[in-house]
Order: sequence, then structure tokens, then C-alpha cells
Amino acid sequence: MGEQTIHVRRLVNIDYVTLNRPAVRNAFNEQLIAEMTTWADHAAADSSLRGVVMSGAGPSFCAGADLGWMAKMAGYTQEENLRDARAAAAMFASIDKLPVPVIAQIHGAALGGGAGLAAVADVAVAADDTTFGFTEVKLGLIPAVIAPYVLAKIGQSAARELFVTGRRFDAAYARDIGLVHAVVPAGDLIDRVNKYLIELATNGPEAMSAAKALLRKIADLPIADAAPITAKAIAERRVSDEAQKLMKVFLRRT
Ligand code: COA
Repeated sequence: MGEQTIHVRRLVNIDYVTLNRPAVRNAFNEQLIAEMTTWADHAAADSSLRGVVMSGAGPSFCAGADLGWMAKMAGYTQEENLRDARAAAAMFASIDKLPVPVIAQIHGAALGGGAGLAAVADVAVAADDTTFGFTEVKLGLIPAVIAPYVLAKIGQSAARELFVTGRRFDAAYARDIGLVHAVVPAGDLIDRVNKYLIELATNGPEAMSAAKALLRKIADLPIADAAPITAKAIAERRVSDEAQKLMKVFLRRT
């Protein structure tokens, strides 16, 4: 299998996951996809985990699919191609399903699947000189397995324009369309991520997880169908030990 393509460091109940193929700007190949999926599936089952920070080693966050690997796929059977595509889809699904808050710490370039990682994160923080793009059509490809996450973040209007043009865009535009949430000078990137982590550390971990689960459940539902699910979710939360404890702390403070 060769060198690890991701590096995971656990610090104060946070997993710092670094994509680690800097020579190809952390492009996704079969091995990286498998390692990310395995890590995410383990992390999802780890009740001591409180959050995730995803970043990229070297000059860029992630250049998307490994084009050397993609080019080789012409020699694969349809079944093999489908298996690989499903593995990529499963990686994004595993990250999406993580019950803890996921922060993407983005610098350099986030293209194709790299921009998809920004979309699947709960919080995306970018250096102001980052280049984004859904550049797949420039290569005769399409943004496919990332499309549901991108659509959920930026909507049809921005997605259609960016998917058909494949144009590159800057961090300010990424923030305007909701792909990222904070844009800071490159030197302040880690500080901004740390500020988010401090904010998250004061929240109820079960509540954050329940909030994420609720959004996933109601994302595609009409309001009338979502309403009973939302009512049940808050009814369960307010009587929970965590909510009772945190509300008492607040009330004592005032
Ligand atoms: N897949 C495979 N290799 C890639 C890659 C990718 N997606 N993106 C970059 N690389 C490789 C380059 O071929 C180069 O290899 P080399 O050193 O053997 O020549 C190396 O990474 C560095 O790339 P370079 O372009 O010199 O680095 P840079 O820092 O100036 O620019 C990018 C980085 C990401 C902006 C630029 O490489 C790029 O635009 N890549 C294409 C990304 C893309 O279109 N992704 C969509 C995939 S669907």
C-alpha cells in the first residue's frame, strides 16, 4: 500500500486529519479514499471524539481527483469504474455522517473533490488567497459524487454556473455563495480554526450531534413533513441531562 496518505493526530479529543500527498497537492487516489473512509467510520463510532479538523499538507488543501489515476481508468471495466466511484461516494458519505462538528481548514487550492470537502464540512475556513473551482468539465469530467453536498451548500444557481463553466474563483466568492464561512489572511488560518474549536468546546456535544442529525433528516422534506420530526427532536433534547445541566448553568449565571 505504501506510505500513509492521511495523517491523523488526536489532540484534546479533536482529530486533526491531514491529507498527506503534497507532491500531487493531496489529490485523491484509491488509497487516500480508503484511508479517509476507514478513519471516518472509526471516528463516527468513537464517543470520546469532540470534533474534526481537516487540512492539507504542503502548498494546497486538495487538488481533487488524482488525474493520473483517473486517466488509467480508461483501461478499467465498467464494473471496476463503478466500484471506484462508489468508494469515493462512500468516503464523502462517511464524512457527512460524522456526528461531531467537522471543520475544513483550507489553503492554496481546493479544486474538484477538494472543494467537495469544503462542502461536506460543517464549518469551512479559508485563507484569503485560496483558489476554488469545480473544474471537472475542463477535463471532460463532471462533479458527481460531491454534487449533493455542494448543492446543499451553494444551491442550484451558483452550482449550475460553476459546474458548467468550471471557472476558478476566490475565497471571497466562496464565502458569498456559502461554500465557506470565514475567510482570513493565510497567517491567521490556524487561529481562526482554534477560535471555532473554542466556541464548539462550550456547546453540548450531544446537542451538536443531534442538530446535525436533524438537518440531515429534514433536508429534503416539505415543511409539513419536517414539522413533526423537528418537534420530536426538541422534545427529546430539552429533557436530556445535557440540556438540563447547561440550562441550569445559564440560569444561575443571570
Ligand atoms: N491529480 C494528479 N496530480 C496533480 C493534480 C491532480 N488533481 N493536481 C496537481 N497535480 C500534480 C501536478 O501534475 C504536479 O506534478 P509534477 O510535480 O510531477 O509536475 C504537482 O502536482 C504540482 O502541481 P503544480 O501545478 O506544479 O502545483 P501548483 O502548486 O502550482 O498548483 C494546483 C496546484 C492544484 C492549483 C494545480 O496543480 C491544478 O490546477 N491542478 C489541477 C486540479 C484539477 O483540475 N482538479 C480537478 C480534478 S477532477
